Amino acid sequence: MGILIEENETVFHLQTERTSYIMAVKNGKHLAHVYWGKRIHTPDISHVLLMGGTCFDVMEPIERDGDESCSLNNLRQEYPTGGDGDYRVPALDVEYADGSRSCPLYYCGYRITEGKGKPEGLPAIYAGENEAQTLEISLSDEMKGLQVYLIYSVLEKADAIVRSVRIENHGKEPVRLHKVMSASVDFEQGGMDMLCLPGAWGRERHIERVRLHHGECRIGSSRGASSHQMNPFLAVMEPCADECHGNVYSMNLVYSGNFMAGTEVEQLNQLRFYMGLGDDSFSWILDPSEGFAAPEAVMVFSDRGLGEMSRIYHRLYRRHLVRGRYRDEARPVLANNWEATYFDFDEEKIVSLADEAAGLGIELLVLDDGWFGKREDDRSSLGDWYANTKKLPNGLKGLADKVVNAGVKFGLWLEPEMVSADSDLYRAHPDWCLHVEGRRRSECRNQLTLDLSRKDVCDWLIETVHGILGSAPISYIKWDMNRHMSNAGSAQLPAERQKEVPHRYMLGLYRVLEEITTRHPDVLFESCSGGGGRFDPGMLHYMPQTWTSDDTDPVERLFIQYGTSIAYPVSAMGAHVSASPNHQSGRETSLKMRGDVAMSGNFGYELDLNAFTEEEKKEVREQISKYKEIRSLVMNGDMYRLSSPFDGNTVAWMYVSREQTEFFFAFFRIQAEVNAPVSRVRLQGIQPDIIYLWEETGSCYRGDELMEIGLVMDVAGDYQSITGHFKKIRE
Ligand code: DGJ
Repeated sequence: MGILIEENETVFHLQTERTSYIMAVKNGKHLAHVYWGKRIHTPDISHVLLMGGTCFDVMEPIERDGDESCSLNNLRQEYPTGGDGDYRVPALDVEYADGSRSCPLYYCGYRITEGKGKPEGLPAIYAGENEAQTLEISLSDEMKGLQVYLIYSVLEKADAIVRSVRIENHGKEPVRLHKVMSASVDFEQGGMDMLCLPGAWGRERHIERVRLHHGECRIGSSRGASSHQMNPFLAVMEPCADECHGNVYSMNLVYSGNFMAGTEVEQLNQLRFYMGLGDDSFSWILDPSEGFAAPEAVMVFSDRGLGEMSRIYHRLYRRHLVRGRYRDEARPVLANNWEATYFDFDEEKIVSLADEAAGLGIELLVLDDGWFGKREDDRSSLGDWYANTKKLPNGLKGLADKVVNAGVKFGLWLEPEMVSADSDLYRAHPDWCLHVEGRRRSECRNQLTLDLSRKDVCDWLIETVHGILGSAPISYIKWDMNRHMSNAGSAQLPAERQKEVPHRYMLGLYRVLEEITTRHPDVLFESCSGGGGRFDPGMLHYMPQTWTSDDTDPVERLFIQYGTSIAYPVSAMGAHVSASPNHQSGRETSLKMRGDVAMSGNFGYELDLNAFTEEEKKEVREQISKYKEIRSLVMNGDMYRLSSPFDGNTVAWMYVSREQTEFFFAFFRIQAEVNAPVSRVRLQGIQPDIIYLWEETGSCYRGDELMEIGLVMDVAGDYQSITGHFKKIRE
């Protein structure tokens, strides 16, 4: 049973397999938050919910016999607003036409539906009728005619609750939304840690954990993209919680643009935890009769530490977020020419890479940046999506046919959201980019951002990409995006709506992606933004994989891929073997180490395949055939993180099949250590009674020995790796 309604319809209890989330209506009007945590029976609300005030608290008037005096500043509120005596961070901040910001929201009613809906125009978690139940609670500010719907979808088996909010203006005047949180939760105890995934270009999603302090801790992005700098994921956790133990509460926003999330610990040590759209980078005018849908926040609780939290996200995103043919189908092993050639290639070079790729067992060759317009470097031609005939005399089709004839599929790089000032597109439509009239059009990587808040620009984009896909046998698109927004104005919007541009851009982008992916269901799309600058559930709804980082150094990748796995499955991460010395770090590493790191992802090569020695080719062939053997385990298995690069010199993780009869294990040691203590790694998630064969060594181990005593990792030298494919031989 996903949703229980109790105590004369005043208590709402959402239950997943291991979680309870409880709300109650107090005094007939205040929707209070009661509990989020391990699954429990419905408690006696009067014991749990304390409503009294303290000195200086504004008290809500007692209206009827039986009402309790109530301070909004102390009450754990389900969807707090400001202006009426709750001095904590509001979940909703509106400005009415008379300039007032006070917005008391009182409970109106609820309804329950089977299955799960979707916020209009936005990516979303999806579920069948028997996989989810949805509770919609309505609140209103009656005086102004503002109606707020809190939407909770309970995916009982998947162990997740998805929250979103819809706001409707039934009043007579426009309302300006300054902030709309998708979810806000009040906890009684603030003594918790917060874990987020900050980074930078080439250093995405490192793990940062800090103790919460009084006042606010806030994260977010105002760059027009979810960003390399901060991922839209946030967890609060007990200080004692670790990978395998303790309570962890987390939220992940299904959105790829500006966001804010944070915590506030207030005077009585209560904690507010929130995520959604807001801050300086968001504003929306809601005209009478209009509605506004906020993106979904995926809420996952684990009482078994971060590891279990991650596995819940991984399973959910694999089954209920990613769509299309490649949700379930094996993703091809690819070779990408970017680090092999950069802009310096021609048809002959690409065909020679395709020939080599086919011989090595690679399944897809991707032609990256530089194939269009007159592009020889990054200073021109974005927007001119026709073949550069100097490099490709036979056009895109001529090249693609030759690649396919060589025995591999053909994939193509595009950066559809951008335009170069030096392009035919820009010369024809100078007002199609984001800009502020009269100001310098600020460029980044010599490019401007197309104004996807405009319908005409989006329509052009849909037809252009559709045309390219129809022009040649293209099986894969790498959809890149290489700058953040600045001067985010639109020539088509009035002054008072200019601040809506970043969100309108995202709505435009999502429409474009929905249309293109629907028209081309057989194409595999990989999203990219200078590496992992838009690695978020929003993009994953349209494109099942993301290029994890432009940093392909295997040691750096251990940190990036480990951090990314906190919220995202390995099946979402692109990971390639690149050249040594590495182009970003200059570090030299073995082909084995590079291959072993890249195998924890959508495996590929990004170096000059023609430069391999015969010995290297043999090793590469072996790597590819090994990857093909373990591909489905890595893509679909449960991931257990065993040793973190953020804690020391070793990294280990494993992927276990659903039946626990097979697993793949990978261990890495970063720096050599002299006279080091014995390094043992204890495995997790397998059956204690099963005897497993380590295929590469021929040794057999019982599951309990592997989990309780562990495997000795005996390696010498810097940048070493050991991997193992284990299979059940008997009980
Ligand atoms: C950034 C991407 O992350 C790279 O992989 C490559 O595609 C370049 N853009 C091309 O400009």
